[in-house]
Amino acid sequence: MNNYSTIFEAVGGVEGIRKIVEAFYPKVLKNPLIGPLFPADIDPVMERQTLFLSQFFGGPSLYSDQHGHPMMRARHLPFPITPERAEAWLGCMRAALAETDLPDELQELILVRLSGPAHHFINQP
Ligand code: HEM
Repeated sequence: MNNYSTIFEAVGGVEGIRKIVEAFYPKVLKNPLIGPLFPADIDPVMERQTLFLSQFFGGPSLYSDQHGHPMMRARHLPFPITPERAEAWLGCMRAALAETDLPDELQELILVRLSGPAHHFINQP
């Protein structure tokens, strides 16, 4: 983070978030535990995730402006999210971040910040 006050700024704003998202979803789709939960047409999901993570990491409220209150746990209730699926999601994010040139400490910080919500979204044993 160094001189940046938000993760959003540290990754390079919306374009930096978009790069992470574009590295992330191909891994998600290939993952046997979580890939089948997602639609084949992943572009709209990537767009909403870019808006959401921009907002989540301290940038402008792009997601709420277009889609209302995030209510992310509620939005995930239609999907059976087990502890194994939460770990798979975080594993794909770890691998996506490793493909970027972001500093290791920033990658770790992003994973720590996403780990809370990922575990909070578990809704199946
Ligand atoms: C814990 C494991 C997770 C699984 C298995 C999972 C799975 C899914 C699925 C299946 C969708 C719906 C795709 C669609 O048909 O539109 C979705 C949407 C989404 N997920 Fe997750 N997700 C997980 C964790 C997370 C986390 C940690 C975040 C961010 C903190 C997140 C953010 C989003 C967003 C922003 C959307 C789009 C919501 C919308 O429709 O507006 N997800 N996720």
